[in-house]
Parts: sequence; C-alpha cells; structure tokens
Amino acid sequence: MKKTITVLPGDGIGLEVVKATTTVLDKVAALYGHEFEYKYADIGGTAIDKHENPLPQETVDTCKSSDGVLLGAVGGPKWENHSSGLRPEQGLLGIRKALQLFANLRPVTGHESLTDASSLKKEVVDNVDLMILRELTGGIYFGSPQERRQVDGEEAALDTMIYKKSEIARIVRQGFEMAQLRRNKLTSVDKANVLESSRLWRETVEEIKGDYPDVEVEHMLVDNAAMQIIREPKQFDVMVTGNMFGDILSDAASMLTGSLGMLPSASIGEQPPGLYEPVHGSAPDIEGQNKANPLAMISSAAMMLKYSFKMTEEADALDQAVSDVLSAGHRTGDIAKEGETALSTDEMTNKVIEVMKK
Ligand code: IPM
Ligand code: MG
Repeated sequence: MKKTITVLPGDGIGLEVVKATTTVLDKVAALYGHEFEYKYADIGGTAIDKHENPLPQETVDTCKSSDGVLLGAVGGPKWENHSSGLRPEQGLLGIRKALQLFANLRPVTGHESLTDASSLKKEVVDNVDLMILRELTGGIYFGSPQERRQVDGEEAALDTMIYKKSEIARIVRQGFEMAQLRRNKLTSVDKANVLESSRLWRETVEEIKGDYPDVEVEHMLVDNAAMQIIREPKQFDVMVTGNMFGDILSDAASMLTGSLGMLPSASIGEQPPGLYEPVHGSAPDIEGQNKANPLAMISSAAMMLKYSFKMTEEADALDQAVSDVLSAGHRTGDIAKEGETALSTDEMTNKVIEVMKK
C-alpha cells in the first residue's frame, strides 16, 4: 500500500523523535512491502520563526492532502513572551481544530520490564492497561471569550468553559464503543459538583448509556480520578473526559509507565487524516543532544498504522518490537535506573529497527 504522511517536526526534541520514527516506518515499509511518502511542513515555534505564523495555511493544506500526520512537539522558552504575541501552542491547537480531531486516545500501557522506572510500587503499576479518551476540540481550550478585561477596576483574565451537547455525545459514544472493544468499563470524569458544563456532560452520559447495555459505566469527579489513577490504576478501562481534565490526567497517568517519554497518542475525527503525537512536550533542556526517548513517537506511529491505515499486523509488530527492546533492558536516560547505561535516541531507534520483524 502507498500512503502519504505529513511530518510536522515542530520544536525542540520534536525533530529528533520524528526523524527516529520515519526511519522505523521505513523498516515497516520494507518488511511489509508498503510505500510511505513523507511531506514535511512547519508548525509551532519553528513556523513562527519562518512564517510569522504558528500554523501556516500551507501546513493545514499539506496535512489535509495526506493519509496521516505525525507531529513531534511544539513550544520552548524561545517563544515565551515572543514580541509577535504568537505562541507555538496555537499551532497545535489550530491543527487539531482545523482537522476536527475531537477524539484524543491516550493509551497507558505498563511494560512489565519497566515497572521499576515508575515512582509507584510494582504491584500497583504492573501490566496497567487503561485508555484515556480526551475530548480535543472543545471545552475551556476553545471557549470564547478568552480575554483580558477590567473587573472592579483591575485587570482580570477570562477563559470560557463551554460544551455543546453534541460535542459531549460524540466523544462519549466513542468511549462506549472503545470500552466494548476492551474490558467493557467506562469511567466518565467530570466536576459535576461545581461546573454546569460537567452537569450537562453527566446527563448526556446517562441519556446515552442505554444504547450500550453491555458496558458498565461510572461517573467520577476529576479530583478523585487524579487520586484513583495513582492509588489503583488497574480499576480503570476507558476514561472519557473533557479537554482540560484529559490533559492533566494523562500527564499523571504517564508516570504509571515510568516516563512521559513513553506515552503515545492518536487524535481522530470523523474524516481522515488522523494526527499522531507523543504526549510529551518539546523538552528544550535536552534538545539537539540525541538523548530524547523516541518510543512515545514510535508508538504513536504504530497507532497511525492501526487507526488510519488499518495495518493491524504491522502495528502489532511495531508494538512488539518496542516491547522486546524494553524487555531486553535497553533504556534511554528518562527510563534508566541509576548505574544503567542510557542509550541515545539513535541507538534506541536502531534497537527497535533491529528487532522489528514480520
Ligand atoms: C498535550 C499538551 C498540549 C495540550 C499543549 C502543548 C498545548 O500539553 O497535548 O497534552 O495542552 O493539549
Ligand atoms: Mg498535556
């Protein structure tokens, strides 16, 4: 099969992890007789520097004309308080919105060999397997107004949390469908004891659940969910939640796997292309040092093979390669224990390529 992939390296370690990932994808193509064509486009701080726009129209067009999009990471101190007032993150939020990627899948899978990289006890995180399903194009991230204004004679800042019922319903339905493919349990996370938008969220879940009688559904307040994810993560199967709660919970959940450098994600809408990016950021502190863990990006590419290209066998083989590399004890700095040798980005990538087989 021939597929066109738009690659958006972005900023910081984004460049290094996407480079690692295309090399791995080339191996997949060679093994299975596919052809992947890469088109590169700018996003984030890099795009601000080159085009004075964190999301040039050309980037959106390139993405739209491809079968899948790989995104490294955006942001960095260089663009904080940039004279233009532009922010790299506008590129990321903009592309999610432009491609209408309302569903963000963040699987949290504990590799047994990595459990001692986690700050939690082995028995708590061993074989953890949950899916955070985060609404990605609504909520407080996109509510308007979002502005500064005078309140009681002083400067105040305003963000708006707004969810339409239809936006809640479509992500919640995805949650139910995903639970049906997994262990039939859905936890809907909200803050219904305080927020009106959460009360609408909860009502919507209640209205829809009759269509999925085989799925056990529970509601959980987000503060409790943050605690439960650390206390007993194995109680969860699919967690469905709004944009900001999903953002926060997924960073917390990443520590179950030992490192933020391990967590992949897929962002999907009604239409292709889907966008695949690691949950981690641009890590400017280690940028350009060949130290970054490429596994979250590589696993995100495996999600692309599975969800966008329907190449299930290839996706499984790639996941298996990552798992085998970890079982063999190979570690980048973020997951290495004291005294263990830390591999570089390139070395880790080569390990994956070496063990990957059909
Ligand atoms: C994420 C990131 C982004 C988000 C930032 C970089 C805008 O934290 O993908 O989780 O908040 O969505
Ligand atoms: Mg985040």
